[in-house]
Amino acid sequence: MRAAAFTDLSGPEGVRTIERDEPEPGPGEATVDVAACAINRHDLWILEGDSAMVDADDLPFVTGLDVAGVVSEVGDGVRGVEPGDRVVLCPNETCGECRFCREGPENTCERFSLYHGGLAETACVEGDRLIPLPDGVDAATAAAIPTAYMTAFHMLRRAEVGPGDLVFVPGATGGVGVAAVQLSAVFGAETIGTSTSASKLERVRELGLDHGIESAEIDEIREAVAEIGEPDAVINHLGGEFTRLGQSVMRRGGTMAICGRTAGGESTIDIASLFLGHKRIVGSTMGTQDDLRRLVELTADGDLEPEIDETYALEDTDAAFAAMQDRESVGKIVVEP
Ligand SMILES: NC(=O)c1ccc[n+]([C@@H]2O[C@H](COP(=O)([O-])OP(=O)(O)OC[C@H]3O[C@@H](n4cnc5c(N)ncnc54)[C@H](OP(=O)(O)O)[C@@H]3O)[C@@H](O)[C@H]2O)c1
Ligand SMILES: [Zn+2]
Repeated sequence: MRAAAFTDLSGPEGVRTIERDEPEPGPGEATVDVAACAINRHDLWILEGDSAMVDADDLPFVTGLDVAGVVSEVGDGVRGVEPGDRVVLCPNETCGECRFCREGPENTCERFSLYHGGLAETACVEGDRLIPLPDGVDAATAAAIPTAYMTAFHMLRRAEVGPGDLVFVPGATGGVGVAAVQLSAVFGAETIGTSTSASKLERVRELGLDHGIESAEIDEIREAVAEIGEPDAVINHLGGEFTRLGQSVMRRGGTMAICGRTAGGESTIDIASLFLGHKRIVGSTMGTQDDLRRLVELTADGDLEPEIDETYALEDTDAAFAAMQDRESVGKIVVEP
């Protein structure tokens, strides 16, 4: 079978199509003919050599978390799916034994990790991580959902976003950003989003963004947000200086959920404004398999339309990563092996 592999960690030019042995499912596993696999900035970190998870000894490395396709074979003990089923993978990997797994939610597992291997014609996965797809949800749409939408969904719930709330999404045009905008609307909330690109912001407005701010300047963004209102919640996947910004603009008692560090891994915060304003800052990673199930249902019911910027053939996976690196896209980038 063919796979798109990282052969060096210098960036998109390090992606090559390679031949690999067809995987065979072991006990509890299933193989999936991959119809679609979305990419995430997590994969780009790996490709740029900026992830502790993968180094030169691991090459060639096949990434790809968000797999959708058709089950080809199942190993012993797999229940719930059978060959021929259309499915989407929940990429969570948990130990099932630690205190956090027992008490839940499962994404707090102390040995939490993620599936990698979807950028290939066949993926070998844990059978009980597969969710059957309703007829109305095509593979590319399903592949767009797991990482970006589960993460945004979980963050919105951690921030207790509800009807009438105002949600601030710095960087509203990418995978998690667009998901946060669309899911805020599902929760009945209004959104403020930022981008450095007027045309991308316009597209996100069409997807439901209520207030767009075209700027990269922190002080300019701060003033523009203040003119709109005091956000009840901040969905922060950028980290860096957007952290202090988010903390300063949110209302008394507001919550900022953080899941990423695209704009930097460190920030200072205004401690007095944090305690005097009774504000909360919470870390959040991925979501639960049940979240994914609900997101697939929302999509099947037409309440959510996951946004795909463009689909790429497996041999063009390098171009898919270049598009992400060049900040060209709105929503998800999907590879179709
Ligand atoms: N913890 C978790 O479970 C989890 C899960 C998913 C994602 N994440 C993290 O969340 C972040 C977003 O992931 P993603 O897949 O949604 O990425 P993505 O699609 O590449 O995000 C693109 C967005 O980020 C903005 N952006 C890109 N580079 C920037 C920079 N240097 N400074 C400011 N804004 C920048 C873009 O703004 P423009 O419109 O201006 O181009 C765009 O809105 C990543 O850090 C990722 O690792 C974490
Ligand atoms: Zn665990």
